Amino acid sequence: MSKGKLQKFAEMETFKNVFQYPYGVISEVPFDMKGHWCEQYFKNDNPIVLELGCGKGEYTVGLARVYPNINFIGVDIKGARIYTGAKQALEENLENVAFLRTSIEIIDRFFAQDEVQEIWLTFSDPQMKNFHKRLSSTFFLNRYRNFLIDKGIIHLKTDSNFLFTYTTYLVEKNKLPLLFRTEDLYGNETNGVKSADFDERTKEILGIHTYYENQWIERGLNIKYMKFELPRLGDLCEPEIEIELDDYRSFKRTKRSGKATAK
Ligand SMILES: C[S@@+](CC[C@H](N)C(=O)[O-])C[C@H]1O[C@@H](n2cnc3c(N)ncnc32)[C@H](O)[C@@H]1O
Repeated sequence: MSKGKLQKFAEMETFKNVFQYPYGVISEVPFDMKGHWCEQYFKNDNPIVLELGCGKGEYTVGLARVYPNINFIGVDIKGARIYTGAKQALEENLENVAFLRTSIEIIDRFFAQDEVQEIWLTFSDPQMKNFHKRLSSTFFLNRYRNFLIDKGIIHLKTDSNFLFTYTTYLVEKNKLPLLFRTEDLYGNETNGVKSADFDERTKEILGIHTYYENQWIERGLNIKYMKFELPRLGDLCEPEIEIELDDYRSFKRTKRSGKATAK
């Protein structure tokens, strides 16, 4: 590990807004704050919103600035990335922000039933080869159901046509209520509404760009966004369709065709 990373890790141990529980730790020690984030950390009754795969935490911190009455928790396995957002939140005295360093595969060990209102998936890796690593797959949605309120909202913001198409089919197949969907969030019109006519709040939210988002925008890619509800009951199934691969990403397998099955 580089000296810079070691320094960041050492400094982060002192951050009161960072909780570090990679798999090796949580398998040994139960997480005491499960079910008690509001009471023990945030010291309020406000709703909790998660950003999963938060990277440097621009979205978590950006939303926390706009919504002081909502508690935001950024989750990522990479500590050197979380460091950036956590430090920023401390410098700005943002009391409604926390970061959790862990694997999202075990996210339901950290939150109790109904503890979370909404989840943001921001520029998640599309995982074109392994659907069970895709953060919007049934594998993960079933875990989210263990702590998300019934009909809690999942937001997906992505550059990836593959991930967006896959999630669209999954939402359709499982009849999950779709609240909003656009394939060009920053275009002149989204669903017939001119972006210039968005209300101030929507404009503020649209103004928050993540690190990866800026890179994709610079490369000229459309940013896609959808939000849907996740009811707690009912079996979820994977869509059985072929989806065109994102040609700007590597797909570590001999490409027999330019498509991959959703599974
Ligand atoms: C492409 S980056 C996007 C980061 C950030 N949301 C952004 O837009 O700049 C994906 C992030 O998700 C994290 N990630 C992916 N799968 C994960 C998992 N299973 N558990 C924890 N973190 C994960 C990675 O560490 C990485 O920081």
